Amino acid sequence: MTNPEVIHDPSELARRVSELKSQGKTIGLVPTMGALHYGHLSLAIAAKNDCDVAIVSVFVNPTQFAPNEDYDQYPRQLQADIDLLSQVDTDIVFAPSPEAMYPRGFVSNVHVGGVTTRLEGSFRPTHFDGVATVVMKLFQLSQANVAFFGQKDFQQVAVIRRMVADLNVPTEIIACPIVREADGLALSSRNKYLSAEERKTALVLSRSLGYAKELIHKGEREAAVVKAAVEKMILDEGGTAIDYVSISDPDSLQEMTRIAGNVVVLLAVRVGKTRLIDNMVIEPA
Ligand code: PAF
Repeated sequence: MTNPEVIHDPSELARRVSELKSQGKTIGLVPTMGALHYGHLSLAIAAKNDCDVAIVSVFVNPTQFAPNEDYDQYPRQLQADIDLLSQVDTDIVFAPSPEAMYPRGFVSNVHVGGVTTRLEGSFRPTHFDGVATVVMKLFQLSQANVAFFGQKDFQQVAVIRRMVADLNVPTEIIACPIVREADGLALSSRNKYLSAEERKTALVLSRSLGYAKELIHKGEREAAVVKAAVEKMILDEGGTAIDYVSISDPDSLQEMTRIAGNVVVLLAVRVGKTRLIDNMVIEPA
């Protein structure tokens, strides 16, 4: 157990990183918005195992929230996050302020096309510009050799991979598996918003993904049939509203009609006022 070095100033991070790089150290970066749970810690552990130095950024990025979203409400608990990260021997916690990341006069933007247009992009049209821009800034500041993301944000990983390929960013992207509670609920900082009753309702997300897997393994190959069954299960639960249920190609994220190879089933569901996402990659048996 080591207390991480906590850096708030972006130029101080850049200076510290060039010192580490000049000593030949490799850097693993885990970008987060804090309110850490075991899903984040699994990424920090992977960074520590794969690289000499593990950096975890904790920054609730204002530019990826639309005005009607939960930016103000998003949980902030920096000291608790640092305490958790000390248990997995994270070397550096980077926790900048919004003013430090977006000083007066900031007008630049990283826009990734194609893969951003569907799913989250159609419900949150400005979201991925905010994500791509902040992640590019974090890559520049940390000079990361490897960056670790959770597979729960499946489309986000596809967007980052596209950005890195298109813009020749020399950072390897590793996606780590979704971490779930024993009852199936995917870990998310937004689970904190759920009441006890809503948390029970939210279990329908993972249950419906399991049902999709069962149908596909039993031989169902019409995506529309699987999708309708998943939608029915979610709506029959009550207290839910669906943003989307999608059966997509895991590489292109294009919607499938026939299930021939691997598919990813992606969900965005509102439980009360909380918007949750989940997904599962399914191999036909
Ligand atoms: O996945 C998240 O928590 C955020 O989108 C990220 C990658 C840290 C960028 O703010």
